[in-house]
Amino acid sequence: MKMISLLLLILSSCLCATFVVNVTQSSYEAEENHSITLEWTFTTRTQGSYRDLFIYCEANTDHGVLVLYQVHEGVEIPKSQDDQFSGRVQIDKDVLREGRIRLHVSRLRTEDSGLYLCDVKTEDGFNSGRCRLSVTEIKD
Ligand SMILES: *[C@@H]1O[C@H](CO)[C@@H](O)[C@H](O)[C@H]1NC(C)=O
Ligand SMILES: *[C@@H]1O[C@H](CO)[C@@H](O)[C@H](O)[C@H]1NC(C)=O
Repeated sequence: MKMISLLLLILSSCLCATFVVNVTQSSYEAEENHSITLEWTFTTRTQGSYRDLFIYCEANTDHGVLVLYQVHEGVEIPKSQDDQFSGRVQIDKDVLREGRIRLHVSRLRTEDSGLYLCDVKTEDGFNSGRCRLSVTEIKD
């Protein structure tokens, strides 16, 4: 019994190690009212596609932890998005299948500044990637 649990532990840690979530850029800078595209990439299968895709992206800001984007079992959950981002976030659905989470955030506010984190889970594993966004105020 012990041997089996040990084997499972080794197997699952191997799976975790092969499933990655990367950021294409670890930090972004933008001016308020401008827009930006934040991008994450995750491991995809060479054959077939995922049945179960879970994505949870959040922003850790001075105003708290805000939900930016969420996918549950392959289905988007727009209702979970925080009001602060309402109508300002667009996802590039075409590239999502290729393992790219491209979130376009428009009309940036200084309070959007913070640490942006995306958790991705599929049958193949779980991982997360983070990047920092800093939005600067424009002074006249
Ligand atoms: C993640 O980054 C590593 C190191 O740069 C690279 O080898 C790997 O292919 C990347 N994977 C994905 C899914 O972006
Ligand atoms: C940014 O947009 C807000 C709301 O539309 C506006 O009040 C503000 O003047 C704009 N700031 C700049 C620097 O353009």
